[in-house]
Amino acid sequence: MTSPPLRVGVLASGRGSNLQSILDACARPDFPARVVVVISDRERAAALDRARAAGIEALWLNPKDFEDREAFDRALVSELEARAVGLVCQAGFMRILSLAYVRAFAGRALNIHPSLLPAFPGLHAQRQALAHGVKVSGATVHFVEEGVDSGPIVLQAAVPVEPDDTEDTLAARILVQEHRIYPEAIRLFAEDRLKIDGRRVTVTGEAQR
Ligand code: GRF
Repeated sequence: MTSPPLRVGVLASGRGSNLQSILDACARPDFPARVVVVISDRERAAALDRARAAGIEALWLNPKDFEDREAFDRALVSELEARAVGLVCQAGFMRILSLAYVRAFAGRALNIHPSLLPAFPGLHAQRQALAHGVKVSGATVHFVEEGVDSGPIVLQAAVPVEPDDTEDTLAARILVQEHRIYPEAIRLFAEDRLKIDGRRVTVTGEAQR
């Protein structure tokens, strides 16, 4: 008997190209996950339009409606739990999340970052990479824990940094890889093939569910 698809919630603040890659993957009949809700802290996030276009619930949580960060995060957790989400995917979600969220979804929340972590965490990763003069950069999917862009690494993909790169050209090259490895990481999670041991994530060979 095959298991029902994993229920995924996506958090996004902006244009939502990673969300789109996840939606496209989930639309394939053999993909073991489905997006059940997209939540944004920005009313006009293109990500919410992408969700609606795909017939998926799009929810705006206005940070101004909450007293502080903890209250926002508690609401976020309860919206996700109300939809029985088994995995949360942060895809360009521009808020730092507090312990209330991190604890609720420990081992069940992923983030994507446009650098080869632990290099260049935080904002403007591509600008940081160019300023540092690295010859290779890339994308990282990692589990979420307390620190910013820290947490055990699930998948990475490298791209060359070309001498004439701008922030935009490097970002575009990295984005191609983001759109490939995020759905792949979700698939591995959904198939219960990711084993976390301290900082290390092992991908096991066979689907467990
Ligand atoms: C991506 O580069 C992602 O790695 C970073 O924010 C950007 C979001 O882009 N966390 P999009 O909204 O998915 O197009």
